[in-house]
Parts: sequence; structure tokens; C-alpha cells
Amino acid sequence: MNIVNRHNRFARFLVNRFDFIIRLLYCKMRLYRLIHLFSPGLYSCNYDSLNSYFLIISKALERNGFSIRGKSVIEIGPGNSYINAYNFLHNGAREVVLVDKYPRYTNTDRQRAYIRNEIDYFKSRNNVKEFPYVNEVTGVLNGDFITFMPGDLRSIRLDRNVDFIYSIAVLQHVRELEQYIRKMAEILNPGGMMCHIVDLKDKFHVFGNPFLFYKYSDFIWNNFCTDDAVTYSNRVRYQDYVEIFKRNGFDLLHGNSWSYDFPGNRINKKFAGRSDLGIGDAQFLLIKR
Ligand SMILES: C[S@@+](CC[C@H](N)C(=O)[O-])C[C@H]1O[C@@H](n2cnc3c(N)ncnc32)[C@H](O)[C@@H]1O
Repeated sequence: MNIVNRHNRFARFLVNRFDFIIRLLYCKMRLYRLIHLFSPGLYSCNYDSLNSYFLIISKALERNGFSIRGKSVIEIGPGNSYINAYNFLHNGAREVVLVDKYPRYTNTDRQRAYIRNEIDYFKSRNNVKEFPYVNEVTGVLNGDFITFMPGDLRSIRLDRNVDFIYSIAVLQHVRELEQYIRKMAEILNPGGMMCHIVDLKDKFHVFGNPFLFYKYSDFIWNNFCTDDAVTYSNRVRYQDYVEIFKRNGFDLLHGNSWSYDFPGNRINKKFAGRSDLGIGDAQFLLIKR
């Protein structure tokens, strides 16, 4: 697969040549604060694109004989969109718990407008009139259906186990991934399933090289190039995910991966000799043993 590049050659040259300085300024020198000052609404989920993941996930579940009806579900890292919670509830799930370490839900006019637009989109796509999941005026969630738990999954206290866990573009941002996946195994009922869609690319992939970050050692990467404040990236590779899932009580029912061409760049010895370096997107469907 080729990365579609919207940027001009000069920007590509700058990023590919000086990415270290850009990363350092952006995350460690807090340059992102300046950018957010001038463009406060920079990050918002695309509910139209997220909506299409529901079909992908529900088809995968169906193929493996798992019905969502009556089940309790956790979404990790929904961002500011509830579209897939609505989809699961609309298709019979009993409840959806949303867990996000950096919740973007705030009582702003902007977020209320986002929620209203998302609900209108959902209602028209599904041809529904009744919408019990959220108060459409205030944007407040109806706790009978959806619970939002701000925080890290590992520190979340649930008084019940769940049947299904999913995440979209989140696991690549998790620091102690193995502990996280262990916690998923703890809170999932036996026979429960998980689906995780993971973006394995460098966040600078739009500038032409999806794996520019392979050149850094863990020390340089963790200390100078990435930060929680700007969505930390763990650089865990496809095969590592498979092994971590297996080690923690999951069988992989289905693993899909998408590979990308990348211009030869220096590769740190941490990554040397791996056969999964070209994989930039992955989807894992798992069952708890
Ligand atoms: C790239 S965004 C994806 C949001 C949404 N799922 C989407 O696809 O648009 C990553 C999300 O994961 C959340 N996140 C990052 N680390 C997390 C963690 N350790 N636990 C829970 N959520 C986390 C972020 O706050 C953010 O909402």
C-alpha cells in the first residue's frame, strides 16, 4: 500500500530530515500548547469514519458466532465520539462502558454541538426516532445505557465483568500494554471477545514515510520524541501484539494486517531483522480462553 501524501515536497523534506527537532519541540518543549492556542478545536473524532468500523467489527463477531444481544461492552479510548456506543446499543447490547484516560468530554457549546450532530447523523442513518441513550439538549449520557469512566483501564473499578471489549486507534498509545491487556483478561467473562483496531504507523506517516520512527532507540524515543501530553506512541509491532495477547489468556481468532512501502531509512537495532516492519495497520479479533 502507498501512503497518500497531501503535503508538498518541502514539508516532506523538512519532516523527514528534521523530525527529531520537530518531535522534541512539539512534545517536550510543549510546542503543542502554542498550536492548540491558535487552533483550539484541532482534535475531534470523525464519527462518519468511526461509524464504518461498527460494520467491520460486527461482521467479524457474526462470522465467529458471537451475538452482541444482551451483552455488556467496554470501549477503550472513544475520544469525543459516542457513535459506536450507539451502534452497539441499537443492535441489542445491554450497556456500554466508555473508558478514556484523557476524556475530551467537557461542557462546552462545541462538544454539545458535536454530540447533537452525531446523534442527528446516527438517527438519520438508522432511521430511528426514539433516542434514549443521551439527553439531546444537554448532551448528558443516560446512565441506564452508557457510562463514561475517565481514567486508565488498569485503575478502573467495575462491579461486574463484561462480554466484549473493543478499541479503535488506541492501543498504540498505551504505555504498559501488557498490564493493560492483562486487565482486559481480568474483566472479560470467559468466552468473551475483544476486537482491537491498531494504527502501527508513525504519526508523521502523512509526510511519506510510515515508519520514520524506527530509527530511534527506546531511550531516545521515550525521552525526547513522544509524550503522554501529545498521545504517547509505544511502537509495539504486530507480532508483539499477537504474543502479548496469547501470553495473557487470549486466542487470536483473526488477525488482519495492512502493509506499506517505506523508503529505506536507518533502523535502530531494536527493530533489526523483524519480518513485520512493513505492517502499518492491524485488526485483532480475540477470544478469552
Ligand atoms: C487516536 S485517539 C482515537 C479516538 C477514537 N477511538 C477514534 O478512533 O477516533 C486515542 C484515544 O485513546 C485515548 N487513550 C490514550 N491512552 C489511553 C489509555 N491508556 N487508556 C484509555 N484511553 C487512552 C485518548 O485519550 C484518545 O481518546
